Amino acid sequence: MKAKGTDNGLRVGLFHPNANVHFGSARSPELNPDLLDIQTHTNLASACEAAGFDYLFMADSWLPYGPESSRIGWRDPYLFSPILGGAIAAVTRRIGIITTIHTSLFHPVQVARMGATLDALSGGRWGLNVVTGTSSSAGLISNEFGRIDHDARYDAAHEAMALLRALWSGEQVDHEGPYYQVHGKVVGPRTVQRPMPLIVSAGASPAGRRFAAHHADTIFMPGRTPRETLHAAMDDIGAQAAERGRKVSLQVHVSVLVREADAEADRVSADLKASVHLPAVAEYLKFISALSTTYEDIYARYSENDMRQVGLVSGGLQAHGGPDRVAATLIGLYREYGVRGVALTFPLWHPSEVELFGRLVLPRLAEAGIWVHPADRDWCW
Ligand SMILES: Cc1cc2nc3c(=O)[nH]c(=O)nc-3n(C[C@H](O)[C@H](O)[C@H](O)COP(=O)(O)O)c2cc1C
Repeated sequence: MKAKGTDNGLRVGLFHPNANVHFGSARSPELNPDLLDIQTHTNLASACEAAGFDYLFMADSWLPYGPESSRIGWRDPYLFSPILGGAIAAVTRRIGIITTIHTSLFHPVQVARMGATLDALSGGRWGLNVVTGTSSSAGLISNEFGRIDHDARYDAAHEAMALLRALWSGEQVDHEGPYYQVHGKVVGPRTVQRPMPLIVSAGASPAGRRFAAHHADTIFMPGRTPRETLHAAMDDIGAQAAERGRKVSLQVHVSVLVREADAEADRVSADLKASVHLPAVAEYLKFISALSTTYEDIYARYSENDMRQVGLVSGGLQAHGGPDRVAATLIGLYREYGVRGVALTFPLWHPSEVELFGRLVLPRLAEAGIWVHPADRDWCW
């Protein structure tokens, strides 16, 4: 299997709901399938594969936003993505499976074995989203990565990537670095993708961009990022990557709700937005902005409508509408924003939603010449 394409086409992924992650409403668990039933996930993945999706992206977090979020089931419970990825590999044949691993929590030798197992058993369909930060794990496990600063954590992640490359080569490793010491040859299996599986990162800071330029095939940015900001970031990353003879593509996330007609989608979307749980959104904003921000600050800074919007789509770009409107948004991202991957978050994520998207929107992307059905090529990214 050829795992990485060299074409310039769009890749369409599902931002897989290994938690009720994108729609901050007490109604989300009741409107969506049972998160803790494994068949929910295998059925959804199979529906994505049948519909023509290229990949599944699974984020991961170790800490809840706060008591209100946990009470309504927003991002808590959160299924650990590499384990879920293994289950999904068993019921799919073609779709790519990207799982998130925190380098601050797992040693590169552990990541190497998790990844090689997933890549071997999936036939070369596994991708690694590298997360360095501790905000989603702070305090839970006390280790040296919790005591070093943001940029030093990226230094450690650079070292972790060099080690992964060495470990996945199947050769003896002798490494004495500032953060890791590894001596030996790890057992197989080796990865099917060589020399490396797909690497994704999502860091936006200067250190995060540098990391992407050095290691990532794809950088993931929030879908609501303004076009100029995206272009500036990609110019910077592209220039740094070119110095190393590399290329990094841009992926963003988009909230999708498709109905036969705009008016029907608008009605459903407005109904969902009205049910957003504002205290949980305040916890989320406090969690992602600064740990010292107070709830009062957050309520003062954002209007109720802003907060409902965040609860409806989090950082994603909203594409709720009939097939033409949704397709136009995705085509615009490809043509005007330079986006080459869209990870779609569905506030309602029954397999029927994915099927509808596959039936109504994907043919429009193919017609526009920006996307080719993965059955007609032999790679998922
Ligand atoms: C679309 C997107 C997905 C992300 N997924 C995760 C994730 O699954 N887990 C996590 O801890 N952080 C995640 N992050 C956070 C990033 O890894 C990163 O910490 C953040 O964007 C800040 O960038 P910086 O660390 O370079 O400052 C994500 C960010 C974005 C934009």
